Amino acid sequence: MSFKCVKKFENSYDRYVVLTSSDKIILPDYIKKENKKFIEDVIKKNDFKAKSSEKIEITLQQDKKVMNLILIGLGEKKALNPKNTRQYIYDCLKDYTGKVLLNFADKDLDNMDIVADVVEHINYKFDKYLSKKKDKFLEVEYLTDKKVPKLIEGYELAKISNIVKDLINEHSEALTPKALADKAVDLGKEFGFEVEILDEKKAAKLGMKSYLSVARAAFHRPYVIVMRYVGNKASKYIHGLVGKGLTYDTGGLSLKPNDSMLGMKQDMGGAATMIGAMCALAKMKVKKNVICVVAACENSIGPNAYRPGDVIDTMNGKTVEVTNTDAEGRLTLIDALTYIIRKEKVDEIVDAATLTGAVMIALGEDVTGVFSNDNEAAKKLIDASENWYEYFWQMPMYDTYKRYFKSDIADMQNTGSRMGGSVNAAKFLEEFVEGKKWIHLDIAGTAFSNGGNPYYNKKGATGQVFRTVYSYIKG
Ligand code: BES
Ligand code: MN
Ligand code: ZN
Repeated sequence: MSFKCVKKFENSYDRYVVLTSSDKIILPDYIKKENKKFIEDVIKKNDFKAKSSEKIEITLQQDKKVMNLILIGLGEKKALNPKNTRQYIYDCLKDYTGKVLLNFADKDLDNMDIVADVVEHINYKFDKYLSKKKDKFLEVEYLTDKKVPKLIEGYELAKISNIVKDLINEHSEALTPKALADKAVDLGKEFGFEVEILDEKKAAKLGMKSYLSVARAAFHRPYVIVMRYVGNKASKYIHGLVGKGLTYDTGGLSLKPNDSMLGMKQDMGGAATMIGAMCALAKMKVKKNVICVVAACENSIGPNAYRPGDVIDTMNGKTVEVTNTDAEGRLTLIDALTYIIRKEKVDEIVDAATLTGAVMIALGEDVTGVFSNDNEAAKKLIDASENWYEYFWQMPMYDTYKRYFKSDIADMQNTGSRMGGSVNAAKFLEEFVEGKKWIHLDIAGTAFSNGGNPYYNKKGATGQVFRTVYSYIKG
């Protein structure tokens, strides 16, 4: 347990942290009067203004014990939002370990969800394959007058985020399609949703030929993972979630160069995101009905690989000329979309996919691309991200982009022009949503960090996006 709320405290801590805005520096009640005076003098002497991420450490003695007090500045109250508040707390706490008592000086800012989220984020490390594991953690006792709910949403989602990170950080020989399916079954039991696994025979019977073309060459066989959560028996409305589940993407015969291939264990980031959303919805007992589908497979090479130039069938019935086997994500997603629409009869769909490098050219590495056939739904999803450290931006979906996937010999081709690449991919998917309300999230930039982002600054999975999907569905 790295986070706990307390009303009062008896323990002695390694550090006492107070988060304060620059509007007024308020010292907590637990500081004795004579010490308060001393602290005020130190603040003055050092010209501490509590600007954002400004910090001052003061050592005192209280009740015969040495007390390390740390004041962390948050800047002006009116400029604070859930994103920069997280950033400032993260900046100041990230190098600490041990027991910390923490509170907001100003009661208006009191927010256990944000603190719990940041603490979990700080403590995460993917050290499974390191001989020396992380053994020092930050343990925060959060001092608050507020009523503490049984489940603190920010904390529960932060723990689920670490599951999402683990799934994405795991390498592809360990996280095969079968292993991902098994993991989904375990999580279903733990969090409370039903999981059905379809093997390739069942997928073939369903006509998922496009997906199975991608999966054909790999030694590790494909599995379709269907997860169902019923949170409101009285309602017939079903939210659909689809995640791209490429446990590895070599590019297929249109082979990727080594540098591009190196990170491709993350190509099931969409699947991990949606599995995370399922865990969160079930854990928080959200009163909605949700079905999630992941058509998991590996895009490999071999004598049985699908080829550039092949024309393939889809579950939907349209034919596709494969012009690049590295545009495989969309070929798996279209069958997952058809499956979830026709077989699971969902009313609307959100998909998440590490779909295109082009989305990073368009938006950079910190912003998820949002593509939708329904502007209102897109806005609602983007609004749902406000509370989290997650950025989204809606991209255009003009029909003029459709010209890029025209084919001479099939209904369409899977690769458009490099121009507008992320939109081309989205427009391709749109052909398979059968008019249903649909939002596509291209997370190729945001699923995995190279360490440059100020908040997701550990190399590896960021574990984000599922929170926004959760908030969107929760409504
Ligand atoms: N999985 C990749 C996209 C990707 C790139 C994800 C970098 C994460 C980081 C996807 O399957 C892919 O290879 N897309 C191609 C499409 C192209 C061939 C039309 C791309 O983006 O180059
Ligand atoms: Mn690819
Ligand atoms: Zn891919």
